[in-house]
Amino acid sequence: MSEKLRIGLAGLGTVGATVAARLLSGAVPRAELVAVSARDENKDRGVDLSGVSFVSDPSDLATQEDVDVVVELIGGEGGAALDLVERSLDANKPVVTANKAMLAAHADALSKLSVGGAVPLAFEAAVAGGIPIIKALREGLAGNDINRICGILNGTCNYILSRMEAAGLSFDDALKEAQEKGFAEADPTLDISGVDAAQKLAILSALAYGVAPDLDNVSVSGIEAVTAADIAFADEFDSVIRLVAMAVRSGNGVYHSVEPVLVKKSEPLAQVVNELNAVSISAAPLGDIMLQGPGAGGGATASAVLADIADIAAGFGRPLFDKAVSEMTESASENAPASEFYIRLALADKPGSMAKATQILAENGVSIEEVVQRSSEAGDSYLPVVFITHRIENQLLRSALIALEQQTEICNAVLALPVFAQDV
Ligand SMILES: NC(=O)c1ccc[n+]([C@@H]2O[C@H](COP(=O)([O-])OP(=O)(O)OC[C@H]3O[C@@H](n4cnc5c(N)ncnc54)[C@H](OP(=O)(O)O)[C@@H]3O)[C@@H](O)[C@H]2O)c1
Repeated sequence: MSEKLRIGLAGLGTVGATVAARLLSGAVPRAELVAVSARDENKDRGVDLSGVSFVSDPSDLATQEDVDVVVELIGGEGGAALDLVERSLDANKPVVTANKAMLAAHADALSKLSVGGAVPLAFEAAVAGGIPIIKALREGLAGNDINRICGILNGTCNYILSRMEAAGLSFDDALKEAQEKGFAEADPTLDISGVDAAQKLAILSALAYGVAPDLDNVSVSGIEAVTAADIAFADEFDSVIRLVAMAVRSGNGVYHSVEPVLVKKSEPLAQVVNELNAVSISAAPLGDIMLQGPGAGGGATASAVLADIADIAAGFGRPLFDKAVSEMTESASENAPASEFYIRLALADKPGSMAKATQILAENGVSIEEVVQRSSEAGDSYLPVVFITHRIENQLLRSALIALEQQTEICNAVLALPVFAQDV
């Protein structure tokens, strides 16, 4: 190995071009960029790559003798990215990646290659962009028991919800604005459906608790069903709505969810706005901490990639997890913790509807703490109504919702969101 760590970088897009520019400017003194790969050799990347060799097939970086560390910034769950990472680990070459989709989908195979061969596979940039959450969990909180991780892990959703709140925009208009400003992809499905946040949560949970990453273990709801009326109702309860990814000890295992949640404005998570991300951790003996910052974008993500490169250059590189996924023994739980709930429905504007709805809730063991009903305007046949429940078990809520949804003559458009609580 030469005195400086020689970097082979695959992917010169939003993140890769920034990493290249920083490496070439000497941002990591012990590392030098020697080779790059992308689809188009001639595209202007806004950085002078004339002193660096171009490799048309990225997987060649895995075996090239003048490359000590491979940085994968191509993206995508499989394909060229997975091929490059597997070949590099197979060749005992350390890898740095920002690719949460690949890590979540192929954690088992990659952990065998990385942990089994003790080859560093660093992924700080894969969760919450520039926020050093992986380092915090692995190093800063090493001697703690983690009780709960709560995160705003998707900047696109947070931007949409914040703009609906601050500017009274509809979901569609807020999404359009996010796309125009570059905070949402042309196809935002993975973001707004909650899947992107679930991939990140699964990675955090493997680190914090040792639960094998498996998206089937995460109860996922996106923000598509949240309306401007919900944002206005939340405001009446002095609250906002955030897409919260949570992993919490519950029953005999760890319960994982990604869903829109009602959060009191006084809570730190409520104050995380626009494209920012945040992760709040409850740990013992530490107590509660929250890290907040830019969760995406070229600069923020490159910052995390460069930190991983610096660690490997300093001899601190670590395998994907501390043990292979197949050896992880902690289990996922299906038991959602008890919670208060926000239940919104459209109730027929006729005598007896409200009495029937409250009777159904009571029969299913759901007790009501507060109710807000909009007054009727001429021509309205259904009126929006919101109930805030006392803290109840999740299965009571589920059976109450099923019973309500069967009453099509008195109500429709039923939506239930948990209410965030510090002590869950
Ligand atoms: N952007 C963010 O804010 C952000 C935040 C956190 C994590 N990440 C992760 O970072 C990674 C990169 O994201 P990005 O936004 O930088 O992506 P991007 O802008 O789409 O860039 C992808 C790069 O990969 C290259 N590429 C694609 N297929 C290739 C192939 N078969 N062979 C060689 N090169 C190939 C492309 O080449 P051409 O340029 O020639 O087409 C492009 O330079 C992804 O895993 C993403 O999830 C991104």
